[in-house]
Amino acid sequence: MKIALLGYGTVGRSLDELLKRRDLNIEVKRILRRNKDPKDSRVTDSIDDILQDEEIVCVAEALSGREPADSYLKMIMESGKHVVSANKAAIASDFEGLLKLAGKMGTTFLFEASSGGTIPWIENIKEIRETDEIVSLKGILNGTCNFIIDKMEREGIEFEDALRTAQSLGYAEADPTADIGGHDTYNKALISCSLAYNGFVKKDFPVLGMEKLTRDMLKELEAEGKTVRFMMLSERSGDRYAVGVAPMVVRKDSIEANVRQNFNCASLTGVTVGELKFYGQGSGGYPTADAMVRDLVRVRDKKTEPDILEKKLVYDDSLIEGVGYFPFGKKRGLLSELIVEARKKDVFMAFEHEEDNEVNA
Ligand SMILES: NC(=O)c1ccc[n+]([C@@H]2O[C@H](COP(=O)([O-])OP(=O)(O)OC[C@H]3O[C@@H](n4cnc5c(N)ncnc54)[C@H](OP(=O)(O)O)[C@@H]3O)[C@@H](O)[C@H]2O)c1
Repeated sequence: MKIALLGYGTVGRSLDELLKRRDLNIEVKRILRRNKDPKDSRVTDSIDDILQDEEIVCVAEALSGREPADSYLKMIMESGKHVVSANKAAIASDFEGLLKLAGKMGTTFLFEASSGGTIPWIENIKEIRETDEIVSLKGILNGTCNFIIDKMEREGIEFEDALRTAQSLGYAEADPTADIGGHDTYNKALISCSLAYNGFVKKDFPVLGMEKLTRDMLKELEAEGKTVRFMMLSERSGDRYAVGVAPMVVRKDSIEANVRQNFNCASLTGVTVGELKFYGQGSGGYPTADAMVRDLVRVRDKKTEPDILEKKLVYDDSLIEGVGYFPFGKKRGLLSELIVEARKKDVFMAFEHEEDNEVNA
């Protein structure tokens, strides 16, 4: 199978190397970059070279940012080629439009690497939802945030110092806003929940970043046998659902509290299967590229079904209730209301979903 690669950064380059090393009968014929490379004749700076090449049956997209990636994904589908993408920002920006276009064109659209890096999360959601009803999703889906909290916790340092270390080690970007502000986790939550609940979740669900976490807040929680993890949390009941992204209070003896460094841990709960947890590398060139390889093998072997998300879901924020930990004390309420209050007062808030903490106790 001949493919094209969009982007040749951390992920794109790793994908090219993995495909060279493995005998999978998948060949990278063209590579799209901003500038041509005189040493590699596969490299082009024109998307048309890829769209017009009839030998290329699938395109693996690992561009940074929402545009031009979103437009390119649509152009590729319209040209009848299959798509594998790692780009959660582009996918989440018009998830509904992309899935519908793929369905209309009869092209395969896979994106395991977009949420949870190498963790087999998306495919497991799809498999479980076929036979069971998924009623809850939650997860640590951003390695940068987890690295920062873990560092603050273990070394008793402040947020800015932990962030600087994360940047110097390459775990955080020079502009960390998308990670610590929650937008990256928001994108993954939007993709994961829509798939799990078989319908498109609304785009403006509540998100609170973790920039205001302090060493003192962690110390106070420690005295109660608790800590913080930056997570998405979602509950569903029939066609009603709620989802939010925020710092979450977890018990020290929970699995989440023991997710260290830049690792991810995502859980889904099905009515019959109960809670399943998936743990592993949520980022990094080779781990992420490996998830793309698995998607490419599915395309090669034609082992895919179109994602048709038919349910009309209703957002119901009363499904997630708990306790908000503010610098001025605790307050009971809905996750959505507590996030609004923290944003309005411009203060830190960590949410404790008591149901979860009782289950883990
Ligand atoms: N890194 C991870 O651990 C990870 C994990 C999961 C998902 N992802 C996702 O995977 C994607 C790639 O991430 P990355 O870390 O590999 O990013 P990266 O290192 O910044 O590489 C991005 C690549 O995109 C190319 N590019 C950007 N804009 C372009 C344009 N307008 N036209 C042509 N090429 C363009 C760049 O081209 P030049 O080479 O010419 O600069 C570069 O090769 C992102 O969407 C990211 O969210 C990354």
